[in-house]
Amino acid sequence: MQSSVIESAIPAPPVAPLDKRRRFIDAYWLRPENAFWMVLRSDALAKIEWKSPSIDLSCGDGVFSFLHAGGRFEPDFDVFSSVADLNRASAPTADIFDHVDDDYQPSIAGRPRYTIDVGTDHKTSLIAKAAELGVYDALIPHDHNHPMPLPDAKFETVYCNAAYWVDRIDDFLRDIRRITAPGGNIVLHVKLKDIKQFTFAHHREELGDRWLNLIDRGRLASWPTLCNRSTWERRFCDAGLEIVAAEPFVTGTHAHIWDIGLRPIAPLLIKAMNAIHPHLRREIKRDWVDLFCDLLEPFCKSDLDLFAGSDAPVEMQYILTPAH
Ligand SMILES: C[S@@+](CC[C@H](N)C(=O)[O-])C[C@H]1O[C@@H](n2cnc3c(N)ncnc32)[C@H](O)[C@@H]1O
Repeated sequence: MQSSVIESAIPAPPVAPLDKRRRFIDAYWLRPENAFWMVLRSDALAKIEWKSPSIDLSCGDGVFSFLHAGGRFEPDFDVFSSVADLNRASAPTADIFDHVDDDYQPSIAGRPRYTIDVGTDHKTSLIAKAAELGVYDALIPHDHNHPMPLPDAKFETVYCNAAYWVDRIDDFLRDIRRITAPGGNIVLHVKLKDIKQFTFAHHREELGDRWLNLIDRGRLASWPTLCNRSTWERRFCDAGLEIVAAEPFVTGTHAHIWDIGLRPIAPLLIKAMNAIHPHLRREIKRDWVDLFCDLLEPFCKSDLDLFAGSDAPVEMQYILTPAH
């Protein structure tokens, strides 16, 4: 089929119920702007059945897929409990999550409802973290700029929310097609270039490079193959992928709020929270999570539009399948 714009027939998801919101906010509490984005992703993804064999490409530390599959952590665990030494990670673009403690042991209160056959990521520290969650049957350290060491036509469900991080995107998409079973579902969450319109990057002249670097912390540089909707759809077509559904699920309003969030001060917040007594940390976290469950409720709605013209999508869910 020609890669034209096909709107999804699937109705908009409801606002995430409180339990899901709470589980995500609990895990990502010091970056609430990431928490609501993850909830939006999870709501969009909830319409997809994870048929086995399944694969989560660029799964990172696995926490998103663990929570999406219904997993539950004890309150003392979150993604900030095991980060790089914040005294040494002073470079503003350093990835503080690219680190795993020898005794990393997330405390799990509830197992996920299903497991995913394979997870991949190029960061071995993240793979090591993902291995502790019990949500992946196998994990493969792999850089997606190279062909995957996986057989042809194997997977019924392929998920990736980080395709635009890969430089050799066209080769990666062709390789995704190769590993997918005939009729299998490929679910991609892709950001759109329009996101830049809703960030302060748009005001470089007034704000200056230094200020923007403090806010951005290297985000935009991590997305070498970000593009607009028509370019994504042309890439899918060129890779032999048919579009089954295309659903926008993050708006410019979400991007405006996410643009600043707590990103610039997060390293200081994490350092402070990891330095205090665990009892006090738990108490502050509980009140914080309660507050953000209320504060973020409106932002967990996929079509939120608060500012004029900010309803343009900045992230899409594509369901693709290998073209005949
Ligand atoms: C925003 S994170 C998303 C992680 C995870 N999917 C999630 O939802 O939490 C992007 C991930 O892509 C991974 N990544 C970036 N470039 C990659 C590449 N070339 N090959 C494999 N993984 C890559 C990063 O290590 C990181 O874990």
